Order: sequence, then C-alpha cells, then structure tokens
Amino acid sequence: MKKFLVALTVMLMSTTACTASGDMILPPPNLNAKLTVMDALNQRQSARNFVDKALTPAQMSKILWAANGINRDNGKRTVPVANGVYSVEVYAVTKEGIYLYDVENHKLNLIAEGDYRSATTTGQSFVSKAALNLVYVETPEAWKSANRTPPRESQIYSANVTIGAMVQNVALVAQTEGLGNCVRGSINREEFRIVAKLSADKIILLAQSVGFTK
Ligand SMILES: Cc1cc2nc3c(=O)[nH]c(=O)nc-3n(C[C@H](O)[C@H](O)[C@H](O)COP(=O)(O)O)c2cc1C
Repeated sequence: MKKFLVALTVMLMSTTACTASGDMILPPPNLNAKLTVMDALNQRQSARNFVDKALTPAQMSKILWAANGINRDNGKRTVPVANGVYSVEVYAVTKEGIYLYDVENHKLNLIAEGDYRSATTTGQSFVSKAALNLVYVETPEAWKSANRTPPRESQIYSANVTIGAMVQNVALVAQTEGLGNCVRGSINREEFRIVAKLSADKIILLAQSVGFTK
C-alpha cells in the first residue's frame, strides 16, 4: 500500500492534473536548469523546424512560470512591470485547447477546447506543429482595477516592454530544456480574438511558438 501511495504521489507530481472543467493544474516549477544563463544566451536563436510532440507538464510549468509566474512572497513576478500593474495576460494554445495562464494558482484555465494553433498565425505552417503557442495580450482592465490612468499609449508601451522580458525569459528557459522558440508578430488577430473570446478592448500584441524541433 505504501509503495502504491508513493508511486501515485510521484505520478501526480509529474503530470498535469486536469480538473472537471478541463483546466490544467501545473506542477510547481522545477528551478534546476541543464544550462547556465550564459550558455542559454549563447545558444539563443529563433527556431521554425518544430515537430508536433507535446511538452511535458514540467516543461509547461517552467515556461509559463518564466513568462509571468510569481517568484516572491509579495506576489511579484519573473518580469518587471510599470507602476506595479500587471497588464499582460498569457494565453497558451496547444493541440488540446486555448488556456489562460492563471498566475495566482499556477494553472491553465480552459477557454476553448480543440486545436486552434493555426489561429495564432497569418499562415506560417510551423506554428501548427509547435506544441505550445503563447499569445501575449494587453488588458486595460488591469489599470482600471489599480486606479491608475496613464494615457493609453503609455499603457501599451509598458505592456510591450514587459512582453520583451517575457519572451526572452521563455526563450532562455526553452533553450535550457532543449526546446526551440520563435517570437511572432504575425498573428491572425481577428480570428484569435474570436476563438479566445477576447473582449474588444484587449490588444493582441505578440505570439511565441515553443516546442520540440527536428
Ligand atoms: C517583434 C518581433 C516580431 C517577429 N515576428 C516574427 C514572425 O511573425 N514570424 C517569424 O517567423 N519570426 C518573427 N520574428 C523573429 C525574427 O525573424 C528573428 O528574431 C530575427 O530574424 C533574428 O533571428 P534570431 O532570433 O534567430 O536571432 C519576430 C521577432 C520580433 C522581435
């Protein structure tokens, strides 16, 4: 019995647990890396030769956490933000569905079931093979909730700076996992807005494909 419980615990820690609603609870991010930061920087490059093979739950966890995860007891994150306002949402688009990264609970909340990877590109065929396509979306609601009202132009500028840090964090972690990545500005914004059920005020700023490569 004890052996069974140990095996079950190990299994749960190494898999994503899907809830009844289809959400994915991610395992805690493993902070070990096979490369140093300098090695990862030395190897950083865009990849487009993806193979359609799912990432492990541990890899999903590391990548989402690197993009926008909480790294301190005060709730602050792996990326810097202007005025302490976290206005960038990260959507994870996989073969299984579109998910919104729930930062506080380190889980992926299901938005739409099905393979919508092609909706994150204007036609680059490698995108539908990449296991994970991240879509970075600016939400003005975050500023309103924080009772801050800089001009909209400043809000968008700040989001773009934060997204620059997000994509580089993801690129470096992907490199340490032996995964390829490609930052992408060409997104089918009209289609993605519909399938991801995004309100009209949100701005789809950037995408990033991540996955195993040939
Ligand atoms: C803002 C931005 C948008 C980009 N958009 C695309 C894109 O839509 N498709 C693509 O294949 N690569 C895209 N790239 C990747 C660049 O083509 C790539 O970074 C550049 O050629 C340098 O190559 P490297 O990343 O291998 O050093 C984009 C990069 C940035 C920073």
